[in-house]
Amino acid sequence: MTLDIDHLRADTPACLQRIHFNNAGSSIPPTPVLDSQIKYLKLEAEIGGYEAADATQETLEAFYTAAAGAIGGKPQEIAFIENATRAWDMVFYAFDWQPGDKVLTSRADYNSNMVSYWQVASKYGVEIVMVPDDESGALDVAALERAIDDRVRLISVSHIPTNSGLVNPAAAIGAVATKYNIPYLLDACQSVGQLPIDVAEIGCTMLSTTGRKYIRGPRGTGFLWVREDWIERLEPPLLDNHAAPWVSVDRYEIRKDARRFENWESNFAGKIALGRALAYMTDLGMENIWARIKLLSGTLRAELSNLPGVTVWDPGQEKCGLITFTKDGREPKDIRDRLRASNINVSVSTTQLTRTEQRDHAVDATARASVHYYNTQAEIERFVEAIRHL
Ligand SMILES: Cc1ncc(COP(=O)(O)O)c(C=O)c1O
Repeated sequence: MTLDIDHLRADTPACLQRIHFNNAGSSIPPTPVLDSQIKYLKLEAEIGGYEAADATQETLEAFYTAAAGAIGGKPQEIAFIENATRAWDMVFYAFDWQPGDKVLTSRADYNSNMVSYWQVASKYGVEIVMVPDDESGALDVAALERAIDDRVRLISVSHIPTNSGLVNPAAAIGAVATKYNIPYLLDACQSVGQLPIDVAEIGCTMLSTTGRKYIRGPRGTGFLWVREDWIERLEPPLLDNHAAPWVSVDRYEIRKDARRFENWESNFAGKIALGRALAYMTDLGMENIWARIKLLSGTLRAELSNLPGVTVWDPGQEKCGLITFTKDGREPKDIRDRLRASNINVSVSTTQLTRTEQRDHAVDATARASVHYYNTQAEIERFVEAIRHL
């Protein structure tokens, strides 16, 4: 099956108005996803929030099946969480960190993850080891293996960093984690919806992701997957009466499924719409989506590289739909603002986002264009001309 791009663009009316190359920031939801969210909000307004939840129980449950199906997991291994950061936090802070424990991570890890690493380092004396990159700029899997000793409690890696087109070798990392029986937390915030993900093939133990990026769900949604045999080994850092029903005056029982990582109150319309977005994505086929993103991003990266004064920064052998670049004499923020004035959306990655990696480049900001399957070659041509004439 190939993607019917005209149909997909008709489902994304904003395409008529603008070129949206900020899909790694927040992509534009297809109409059926938006409609499902609005319909649910209207139902809440018409019959009441609790009553709406009761009336749509099956659709709400369908979210778990859709999320599990999208990554090759099981519905009971899924928790609906408001974003990728909190999903990640709920398992990272579930470890009972002890002085001398080690975490192995990548140099290109997400900034909030870095903050958490340094927090447990200062609070509990955990050692954070940033595994060196290989010569292509991806995490060096051989160096990762050499760094393993009996103090390593966790391998924690961002699959695709927030600020570049790099794809880290998630499955090769998983093979090392499996070989040494070390839990492996994959931050798949930028990869779910962009490339095929199968948690068993990757060999991770936990995975976090967000709704608004490549899945094309609403903002304020995300999910966590935890492999079945690890769920009960992880006591969530926060509990409520949904995660841990209060069973007698002085006792609670933590749920046995991944919903122990959830809150009782949550964004129900967002959950419905995220389930819809996951189903929409799965119907299109992840192989088709990934092939199209590689085609478009490969063209855009090559054409930008050919422009005088433009430098493309993406490291790694395997690259994805994010293209980071600078243009001599133009601040990335200025590039973004000028493009936005012509209805072209890109974002800016500052040093704040991945300090360690960007320091090597000696740049403190890059412009980031991120394409999705519904973008077109014609948009790429217009974009390249806009950059040429900036
Ligand atoms: C690699 C990576 N991890 C985590 C996050 C955080 O996601 P959220 O904003 O949904 O918490 C991002 C967001 O940009 C990201 O790029």
